[in-house]
Amino acid sequence: MRHLRLSIERDIEQAMEGMDLKDTRRRYRDHNEFVVLERFLAQPVVGQFLHEVDLLADDVNRNYIPGHKKGGSVSFYALLNKAPAILSLYRSPALLMFLSRLVDAPLMLCPEDDPHSCALYYYTQPGDHIGFHYDTSYYKGKRYTVLISLVERSEHCRLVARVRKRGETEEIRETRIPMDPGTVALFNGDKLWHAVTPLGKGEERIILTLQYVTNQEMGPLNRAFSNLKDAFAYFGPAALLRWNPSKGKG
Ligand SMILES: [Fe+2]
Repeated sequence: MRHLRLSIERDIEQAMEGMDLKDTRRRYRDHNEFVVLERFLAQPVVGQFLHEVDLLADDVNRNYIPGHKKGGSVSFYALLNKAPAILSLYRSPALLMFLSRLVDAPLMLCPEDDPHSCALYYYTQPGDHIGFHYDTSYYKGKRYTVLISLVERSEHCRLVARVRKRGETEEIRETRIPMDPGTVALFNGDKLWHAVTPLGKGEERIILTLQYVTNQEMGPLNRAFSNLKDAFAYFGPAALLRWNPSKGKG
């Protein structure tokens, strides 16, 4: 496990080599706290994650909310048991430091009982999609989303976002964002209005999501709402069994 952690740290350091942090920070700020890092992770790293994705085939929970969402998800709890490389990425000190510098805020991991902290999204059946939404923070601080493309064998299924340029308030461009494997999209969840368009026949798209926060505390009502949403829209009622309401935070 230690060897794996060190190997992932090296991969992250390699990914950051040659990256112009100043320019990336400027792009992030210019697009209202949203940036895409094309092919940030090299193919061998993605391949390592895909091996774990294969092991998780039986853990995918399918969900359907008419008019809003259809797809599959694997929660943090399943990843805990079967995906050490993906977890090493989520917990990587090098990645945490890099992201904190990029967004200019001290980021933390989500608490261990948040099923969404590190998860997989599957678009594998025709019509799988999610409608426009914010990744609202129910925490007492900000919540940042990192999306990492693992599979994008699709012409139809795309991340679409209303990307607001700094200083522009009237015109908001709706942008379709191709995400080749290894590509990262990073944004402040409360600021990016985004969706994923429906998958076509015979296509497949798999995304790894990492969530980071600036405050690990969550009020009890927000925790209840967040857990119910995760159970019904993403990971299934089993995710609720891990929840201890008496803790009142996530
Ligand atoms: Fe989202």
